[in-house]
Amino acid sequence: MSSLIPTLPGRSYTDPEIFAEEQRRIFESLWHCAVRSDELTRPGAFKTVRIGRESVIVVRGRDDRLRAFLNVCRHRGARLCPEESGEVKRTIRCSYHAWAYDLDGTLVAAPNLVKMPDIDRVRYGMLPVHLREWLGYTWLCLADEPPDFEESVKGAATERLGDPAAIDRYHVDKLALGRRIVYDVKANWKLIVENFMECYHCATIHPELTAVLPEFAGGFAAQYYVGHGALFAEKAEGFTIDGSRGFAKLPDVSDEQDRRYYAITVKPQVFINLVPDHVILHRMFPLEADRTIVECDWLYHPDVVSKNLDKSVELFHRVNEQDFEACEQTQPGMSSRAYRDGGVLVPSEHHIQKFHDWVNQRLRG
Ligand code: FES
Ligand code: FE
Repeated sequence: MSSLIPTLPGRSYTDPEIFAEEQRRIFESLWHCAVRSDELTRPGAFKTVRIGRESVIVVRGRDDRLRAFLNVCRHRGARLCPEESGEVKRTIRCSYHAWAYDLDGTLVAAPNLVKMPDIDRVRYGMLPVHLREWLGYTWLCLADEPPDFEESVKGAATERLGDPAAIDRYHVDKLALGRRIVYDVKANWKLIVENFMECYHCATIHPELTAVLPEFAGGFAAQYYVGHGALFAEKAEGFTIDGSRGFAKLPDVSDEQDRRYYAITVKPQVFINLVPDHVILHRMFPLEADRTIVECDWLYHPDVVSKNLDKSVELFHRVNEQDFEACEQTQPGMSSRAYRDGGVLVPSEHHIQKFHDWVNQRLRG
């Protein structure tokens, strides 16, 4: 095999038709990490999220269960919750003709319903969306028959860690949200995935990160360090912007995992970064072929979440800004005739070809 292998062609990152197919066959077909579950604590609390071309409502029921529904009224199709988040008292009520739905989705009231006694309240209830909870997040799938969650999400997330239990020791579901930063990135979602998968760029654009993780300056990504993570620099006391001390190691993180960084990609839209004292989790929401919203959460042990997190957050925030700027700088080149047939991957990026094969396979699927 040549040491240079081709990438996807430029139009794969710009063509609205290809993007629509990706929405259909990737984002609307696979599990999607949508909401941090403990943001919805009280019955009636809801958030709306974009998955592929759909808007979905995630709401906490009076029985404390989270449920998800398509954000579309069954009467004449009005959007039920136009807001990004909120809290309803007893029902979700459409603002058009006032059909009202219980938090379990059942249609409970419609003006003049007495004159329509035969209306089936379940049949005309809100349409449910498959929901699972893992790592403290609500994962949704729009497919009629979702892929197996254990295999396609948990299995995929843990296969690179060597020890499948490694991620459990961070107890991500018990951590508290310390900071959330939302990035509006003017780049195709695949450029962001590819960037996350390789570290050929680390020496060029991530001086702060390579100071803490010197192995990265060699150009090999964390995913190359299968099972053993990337070791902190000897002089780094913690995973912070200046290498100063962070917080105490999360209680169950093993000695082997201490002072190491692990990166995991859960296709299609989640990156998980594990360091001894916190977890950074990215979720991507592709809006257009050349625009992607990335929500990044910094999660800490509840005992430290009220402390000053700035130095801890700043390191990966800086990395995010550096990465997204590089992606934005790349996006215009995707429409250039210079990139009509794509570019090339060097050996330390060869694993990106597997991602390209996966995308092509899904689109053919
Ligand atoms: Fe919702 Fe008519 S469209 S009540
Ligand atoms: Fe990077």
